[in-house]
Amino acid sequence: MALLPILHYPDPRLHTRATEVTEVDAQIRKLVDDMAETMRAAVGIGLAATQVDVHKRLIVLDVSQDQQHLQVFINPKLVSKDGIQEREEGCLSVPGIYDRVTRAERIVVEALDREGKPFTLEAEGLLATCIQHEMDHLDGKVFVEYLSQLKQNRIKTKLRKRARETL
Ligand code: NI
Repeated sequence: MALLPILHYPDPRLHTRATEVTEVDAQIRKLVDDMAETMRAAVGIGLAATQVDVHKRLIVLDVSQDQQHLQVFINPKLVSKDGIQEREEGCLSVPGIYDRVTRAERIVVEALDREGKPFTLEAEGLLATCIQHEMDHLDGKVFVEYLSQLKQNRIKTKLRKRARETL
C-alpha cells in the first residue's frame, strides 16, 4: 500500500467532476486500499478519489469509534433523501477549517463495494453527512462552498498563506 498526496483547497483540481468506474478491477482495489491507508494516516473519516487527484467516482469512509469499519462506495448514487441536519464539518483538503453545513438527515445510497458487488445503504446522522460530503467531492464541490463568500475568501487567503509558509 502507499500513501497518496492529498490536494489542498483552493487547488483547482478539486473542482474536477469525476467519471464512473467502468470495471472494479485490481487497479481500483489498489486505489481503494491506498485511499484507506491515506485517510487513516491523515486521521480523517472520509476521503474521495478527487482529493488524491484521481477523478473516478470512488469514496472511502470510516465513521466508527475504533476506525476498523471501512466503507467503500464505488459509483455512489443518491436514491432518496429527507430531513435536515446541521453539523460541523472538516475536510482533509481544507486542513484546520471547520464550519457548520446543512444537509439531508437521512439518505439512501446505491453503490458498488470493493468487490464490485452492488448494495443499497440507508444512512442517517454523521454517516449521512459524511457520504454527502464525499459525494460532493466527486462533483467537484468542497464543503466550504456552502459558506458565505466572505468566509470562503478568508479561508482561501489563510490556506494560500499557509502553503507559502510550508514551502
Ligand atoms: Ni472533504
